[in-house]
Amino acid sequence: MAASEPVVYINGEYLPQSQATVSVLDRGFLFGDGVYEVIPVFAGKPLRLTEHLDRLHRSMHRVSLKNPLTLQEWEEIFQTLLESNPGGYRSIYLQVTRGAAPIRDLSLSADIEPTVFVMVNDIKPVDYAELEKGIEAITVDDFRWKACDIKSVSLIANVMIRLRANEQNVVDAIMVRGGLVTEGTASNIFVVHNGIISTPPKSDCLLPGITRDLVIELALANGLTVEERDIKQDELETADEIWLTSSTREIAPVVKLDNHVVGDGVAGECWKKIIALYQGYKKELRNG
Ligand code: PDD
Repeated sequence: MAASEPVVYINGEYLPQSQATVSVLDRGFLFGDGVYEVIPVFAGKPLRLTEHLDRLHRSMHRVSLKNPLTLQEWEEIFQTLLESNPGGYRSIYLQVTRGAAPIRDLSLSADIEPTVFVMVNDIKPVDYAELEKGIEAITVDDFRWKACDIKSVSLIANVMIRLRANEQNVVDAIMVRGGLVTEGTASNIFVVHNGIISTPPKSDCLLPGITRDLVIELALANGLTVEERDIKQDELETADEIWLTSSTREIAPVVKLDNHVVGDGVAGECWKKIIALYQGYKKELRNG
């Protein structure tokens, strides 16, 4: 094994990445029949681990998959992989598929074991000066299904929409369903009007983001006003600030949308407050 080759977990074994394999009949491969999680890790400490594992549990419940591991078993795998793959700023990726059946059939013809895969990825540390410059995005019709609350590996619609954004030389797309804003292709959305922070309520139209919840919690605990409410597409045009949040991106200000400048065209005052709170939270996690 090459010195730098990562070690991954696959169905009970720890193996160099190049030796980890799954069957071509795996339903995750054939149908996208599986769920996943991405958990950021700072200084060796997973951020909001319980919340991520709770969401995994909910995703599995929604697709009638039984969680194959106990909380303790998951944590042991993460610990072993973090030790085997040292680094600073990393994320844990885990995926559970329904497993490999003897034949390709939507119906389950046999009792099969789920496939469990876990890896640790290096993430480029967030450069806050760079983050502050903001990103550009476009709005796109959200043509995904009505089960977006499941963190499913079937991400082809998100891929299509992200590619559409990239074709227009922008980083991301903000999706709109029936005139209401839902989320980014791999992030949740917040808008700010006159100092009031709003984000769409949880529903089957968006993923209940862990960063989303943390942002709301930090904002409320520090005297900022947050509303969970439907956001109409035209409110994007009048917003002073727009942010996209996720475990890997943290809180990214959108400074240009559909070629129009958002607010003053720079990261806003509210973003500055929330990113400072988020950095403070990470520091506590590191020191705690
Ligand atoms: N995606 N909405 C979608 C569609 C997502 O894919 C994600 C995260 C989020 C934000 O969730 P969280 O704050 O828990 O990261 C919202 C991860 C990072 C990914 O797919 O890589």
